[in-house]
This record gives sequence, structure tokens and C-alpha cells, in this order.
Amino acid sequence: MTHINIEPLRNRIRKNLKLLKPWIQRENVSCYRVYDWDMPEFPWCIDYYEGRIHAAEYATRHPLSDEDYQYWLTACKEVFIDLFQLTEEQLYLKLRERKKQGQYEKVNDKKEFFTVKENGLLFQVNLQDYLDTGLFLDHRPLRKQVMQESKDKHVLNLFAYTGSFSVYAAAGGAFTTTTVDLSNTYLNWAKENFKLNQLPLARHSLIKADVKEWLKQPSHRPFDIIVLDPPTVSKSKMTKTNFDVQTDHVAMIQDVMRHLSRDGVLYFSTNYRDFILDETLFQTFEVNNITLQTIPNDFRNKKIHYCWSIRHQP
Ligand SMILES: C[S@@+](CC[C@H](N)C(=O)[O-])C[C@H]1O[C@@H](n2cnc3c(N)ncnc32)[C@H](O)[C@@H]1O
Repeated sequence: MTHINIEPLRNRIRKNLKLLKPWIQRENVSCYRVYDWDMPEFPWCIDYYEGRIHAAEYATRHPLSDEDYQYWLTACKEVFIDLFQLTEEQLYLKLRERKKQGQYEKVNDKKEFFTVKENGLLFQVNLQDYLDTGLFLDHRPLRKQVMQESKDKHVLNLFAYTGSFSVYAAAGGAFTTTTVDLSNTYLNWAKENFKLNQLPLARHSLIKADVKEWLKQPSHRPFDIIVLDPPTVSKSKMTKTNFDVQTDHVAMIQDVMRHLSRDGVLYFSTNYRDFILDETLFQTFEVNNITLQTIPNDFRNKKIHYCWSIRHQP
């Protein structure tokens, strides 16, 4: 067995926590990133969620033998449990299958939801059953910005997932919010998030639709703020065509801009690491790269997403 020294992992997480401590105390958050593949030999993405730890293993060609890997994994778990004072049940591991690179092990169906707090708002998360938890922590700053700009505005949230941008907008006093997603599961989750924050749904609509098709309908009101944060690719039996953010973003942004009010703003974001925003958009619209200001303090990976504000030219 090769010698595996686990101490650097422990020390790095400790150091990260120490650096984050003043920020955690200042911000009203109970979920944040504590480690993000800071060291190549520990390919983890570790998030703290209200007394629990969600540790996802990155796809990597692990140089360890099966026996060493099991030893390494046990040692990592012990570090997480020890550092965060967890019970076994409070540690949620998403492991990559070692043979099929890039795939997570099967997800569960335990329906174990609990509530986390962010900027004074509450969100349901589930660390067990899905690949993602219900709340993408990297968009915390943009959510806050949307909340601060939403008073009396009509806000549209496309590819909305569990509706966190919509909840922030509603809490910020949006006149209406419109939340569009293809998945009933996530729209129901969004509904729960609205309820949790005591935001009545009367002026907030949740719409099950393919964003591409929905944008083609001419009858929507103009929106003052639009959030467009699509997945990198989307293939679904429920849609006529597939979606690929690199290939399809120009056409989609042009369609979205038709629904934006004269003085409105579109926030467009993608997590696709190799993404290149097409030059033609700069000629047609007023485009600003706001990536850096939208990356939260707890993310050391400053390329976790890219983000632009896009407006009509004056
Ligand atoms: C990466 S998440 C979006 C994250 C979200 N913007 C947020 O900040 O929480 C992808 C979402 O897009 C939805 N989706 C995928 N393809 C879609 C389509 N063609 N039309 C509408 N929603 C779609 C999925 O159901 C999922 O909820």
C-alpha cells in the first residue's frame, strides 16, 4: 500500500474556515463552500449546509489502486467528520464511479429535505436524492443583486430550477415574477420555496415549458429584469429540440431581448468553462462582463461561472 498522508487536507480545510470565519459571521448564510479541489490529490468539492457536509468527488483519473482508494476515502471521511463534528448521517458523499469516468453513483430517493438560510431567506435543499442540492451556491451574489433591483419590477426567471432567483426577486418587492422550467419536480420545489418565505403566489407564476418554445410566444408582457442561466446542454424527451449553450446562445439571447423592456437588464450566466460569448452580441446590445463581481467570497475557483449584463443600446 502506498503511503497516504491525509493531514494536508485537514490543514487546508482548517485554513479555509479560518479565512472565511469573519465573512460567515457578517453574511446571513448557513451554507457555503469550504473546499474546492484546492489540492490535486484531494479532488473534492465540499459544501457546508446547516450542520451537514455535502462532499462531491470530481471526475479524475485516480492513480490509486482499489485498496488504496478505499483507505484514502475512509481517511477523507474521518477528516470531514472530525473537523465539522458530524455524525455519519450528516455527511453526504457523492462519489464518482471509478470505472465509468465522470458518472456519479446512483442517486437516492429518500426525500430528505431540510431548510437553509441565505440573506435572510429560506430554501429547501436535498443533499441526497439528486445530483444537485436545490441551491447553486455560486449565484448567491447575483441573487442578492436581483433582490436589490426588483422593487416594483416584472422579473422573468428562465431555466429557473428551484426558483431561487424568483424568491429573491419576490422578497425584494417584484411586482410580478415568472418562473419557467421544464421540470414539474423543480417547479413544485420552487413553490415550496415561495411558501417557506411566506410569499403568496398570486403575482408569481410558475410555468412548465421549454424555454425555447415559450420565448416564441408573442403575448408576454415586457420584463424589466430577466435571468437566463441555462444548463450547458439539455436533452429531453419533452422538448422538440436539444439545447447547447455554446451553439444556441446567440439565438436564445436575441429571442430573450425581445421580451426585455426598453430600460431592462438581462443577466446571462453559464457554468460552461470553455464558453465564448459571440462577438456579434456586442454590436447589437450593450454587453458588460460582470463575472468577477458575481463570484462569492467562499469560491476560490473564479471560473465557476461567467456572467454578463445585457441591455438594449440607448
Ligand atoms: C443548471 S439548472 C439552472 C439553474 C438555475 N438558473 C439556478 O440558478 O438555480 C438547469 C435547469 O434547467 C431546466 N431545463 C433544462 N432544459 C430546459 C428547457 N429546454 N426548458 C426549460 N427548462 C429547462 C432543468 O429542469 C433545470 O431545472
